[in-house]
Amino acid sequence: MTDKPRSADVGPRPAATMTSLGDPVPAPRAKDMGLVDELAGEDSLAADAIAFARAKIADGPRPTRERAVFGDVGVIEKLKTANAKRWRGFEAPYANLACVEAATRLPFDEGLAFERQEFMKLMMGSQSAAQRHIFFAERQAAKIDGLPKDTQLRDIKKVGIIGAGTMGGGIMMNFLQKGFPCTIVEMQQEALDRGLGVVRKNYDASAAKGRFKPEQVDQMMGLITPALELDALADCDLIIEAVYENMDVKKDIFGKLDKIAKPGAILASNTSYLDVNEIAASTSRPGDVLGMHFFSPANVMKLLEVVRGDKTAPDVLATAMAIGKKIGKVAVVAGVCHGFIGNRMLAPRQIEAQKLLLEGATPAQVDKVHVDFGMPMGPFQMSDLAGVDIGWHRDPNRIESIRDALCAEGRWGQKKQAGFYDYDDKRNPSESPRVAEIIEEFRQKAGIQKREISDQEIVERTLYPMVNEGALILAEGKAQRASDIDVVWIYGYGWPVYRGGPMFWAGLEGTDKIAAALEKHGFTVAPLLAEKAAAKAGF
Ligand SMILES: NC(=O)c1ccc[n+]([C@@H]2O[C@H](COP(=O)([O-])OP(=O)(O)OC[C@H]3O[C@@H](n4cnc5c(N)ncnc54)[C@H](O)[C@@H]3O)[C@@H](O)[C@H]2O)c1
Repeated sequence: MTDKPRSADVGPRPAATMTSLGDPVPAPRAKDMGLVDELAGEDSLAADAIAFARAKIADGPRPTRERAVFGDVGVIEKLKTANAKRWRGFEAPYANLACVEAATRLPFDEGLAFERQEFMKLMMGSQSAAQRHIFFAERQAAKIDGLPKDTQLRDIKKVGIIGAGTMGGGIMMNFLQKGFPCTIVEMQQEALDRGLGVVRKNYDASAAKGRFKPEQVDQMMGLITPALELDALADCDLIIEAVYENMDVKKDIFGKLDKIAKPGAILASNTSYLDVNEIAASTSRPGDVLGMHFFSPANVMKLLEVVRGDKTAPDVLATAMAIGKKIGKVAVVAGVCHGFIGNRMLAPRQIEAQKLLLEGATPAQVDKVHVDFGMPMGPFQMSDLAGVDIGWHRDPNRIESIRDALCAEGRWGQKKQAGFYDYDDKRNPSESPRVAEIIEEFRQKAGIQKREISDQEIVERTLYPMVNEGALILAEGKAQRASDIDVVWIYGYGWPVYRGGPMFWAGLEGTDKIAAALEKHGFTVAPLLAEKAAAKAGF
């Protein structure tokens, strides 16, 4: 034994850091920390290796087994605290840390046995399978079924954005970062200034964190051409519309774009739910039209649903997928249907979550089940964050649901410091007595007896219906493959990676168990799910 780490003996700090975070270490650094003995020159590998071997022979045997591991294991707890959020729910980082800790305590062979046991558990476990699934699913998503091999991509040099609201500004940021000149059109100067102000503020905040140099921010802002007329988009190769979610407004814009955009320009809508075929029909060039559905915040969220209309030309689809990749998104092809893949699957979850409130669950209970499952937030937390009023009919006298009642009282979510929860100045939520009253009023009106709702029932009634909807989407061909649906949920909604997306998870959970529970709760089981359940198969 020696009293200080020798070569090939790095000590707990680098070992714990490297194995738990999985970050690569450059070779010179590996040498400095004692992880490797020597670095060979690029042109002298054989000679260096032989010299190294000779030197080691001269040194005599290295008694690895007899050496103790030195260093402070306190780093392990520090790593756990610093990465608590990032590692929530993951098994592997903790198993790695346990192995490092064991190495400081156990004799060499026992340490190896411990490592092997931990490794086998992980290798055979579902988290590893789920993460490998997502690795391949992400790559598979880029492939477009039925696309002619010789499809030529359209050249995109200049991008147009219509609407500088929440989405338009965020979408534009993706393109600016990749050096695309962008023209952004708003209806009024004030809205334009406000939108560009938000973009600038976001970039400045990133620069303050060291992500950009201040001159880079100026450079990106310099790529913007602000405009108040659609005519300014005449020279754009790709135009993305991000105005209000209203079919008449969108049709009007696309009709005008048809007359303004240059031949061959791609015309995309960022609509969340609307019929892309109907939007395309308001132009004389439906082949050039498709959906490019970004997720909020659009400069952060990695998912891009590329919505293929009935008449979308193959090269338009392929170009949109390629440009998505170029701006750092994970692009997935979706078919035209209400809400496409992601939001369509969200709908049954939201409906059921509201029903559960009437039957006796609280928003906090439902949300906790989702957070414990590994989602970043539950349905009601998400509602409060996005805005309870999104999609509300805006008539305070028409109160047909708990949501309507909340909106009528101005409980529009975090922005009003009140939604399904109450919020303090720092946006910390607390359960709301007023919301409990509203729920109770609705419960009485509906003549529903309050009962104890189990967490398992919440899983069965909010997560299982998503799988059911996914099965419908797949059978209708609105998603190309089950793994595309998984990619949508991982990158668009924060579904836990270690559960591999809803369709992969269905296989882990058991499609037979899911179908039986759905039936018990009165759902119509999707034929494809029933088929999988009968075969006890996954998707
Ligand atoms: N907010 C989200 O989370 C989200 C996510 C994905 C998709 N979307 C979709 O993106 C679109 C935009 O949503 P948003 O949240 O950014 O809305 P928003 O209200 O924040 O922004 C819309 C902007 O469009 C401008 N506008 C309206 N009509 C215009 C016109 N004729 N010409 C130019 N500008 C016009 C408005 O002045 C406003 O600034 C909608 O279709 C929505 O469904 C929203």
